[in-house]
Amino acid sequence: MGSFERIAFVVRHPRRAFYQWRSGRPLGSRYVYDVARVAPQGPLGNVMAYLDRRVIRESLQEASRETKIRRALEVGAGYGRLIMTLTEFADEVIGVEREPHLVETARSLLPEIDFRQQDTILRLPTIDDGSIDFAMTFTVLQHMVDDDVRAVLAEIRRVVRPGGFVMVCEKVEPGDETERSDDPTLFVSKHRPVDVYAEWMRPFTLYSTRPRPAPASWNRNSGTAMLFRRTA
Ligand SMILES: C[S@@+](CC[C@H](N)C(=O)[O-])C[C@H]1O[C@@H](n2cnc3c(N)ncnc32)[C@H](O)[C@@H]1O
Repeated sequence: MGSFERIAFVVRHPRRAFYQWRSGRPLGSRYVYDVARVAPQGPLGNVMAYLDRRVIRESLQEASRETKIRRALEVGAGYGRLIMTLTEFADEVIGVEREPHLVETARSLLPEIDFRQQDTILRLPTIDDGSIDFAMTFTVLQHMVDDDVRAVLAEIRRVVRPGGFVMVCEKVEPGDETERSDDPTLFVSKHRPVDVYAEWMRPFTLYSTRPRPAPASWNRNSGTAMLFRRTA
């Protein structure tokens, strides 16, 4: 990084720059998600993907009993492991993801889905206000610091139309969390109770919750799918 780029980085990401300076790490470095970190692979990964798609499908069924789902969005779509479930209900599906290599894989697997790579998911600049009927995050916010989660949720609230739904599936029970959960440049695992998400999603209302099912041999602290609705 040249001096101009270093200054630009500090101006654009003051908090990240501060954490990196404090921990002696190179400026601009951050945790990079690879395919293995998105979800377990192999037999366990196959069963998990089935169960995860099932809980998404149940939420979509519940939402579609109330309203027509034409346009759906996944924020933090990874390599597209789960997003195809949205195409069972919506005519148009958008996946937003930060990691370019995951987006490349996703596009090669699912060309009918509109994957958009962004350097940050804290803003959704290509998505208009109130243009989405159903949005979801799936094990994304649990890996982000509080301020960033609030920013993502504010953007999701902005893009979902009145009467539309948001499914947030994240870990909510304590356990197996990372020691540090305040540094956005590290791998973070922070579990927040349903009440916290419900508060941060206001004025959207909590419509239902369902446990994220987990294979018997896997960590049972798998998370909760929280379905929210924009009522006004
Ligand atoms: C565990 S993966 C889940 C991916 C996908 N939702 C799924 O279930 O297959 C977490 C995803 O969130 C994204 N992510 C995590 N922390 C992020 C951050 N601070 N900013 C942007 N994206 C982040 C990662 O790039 C990754 O795609």
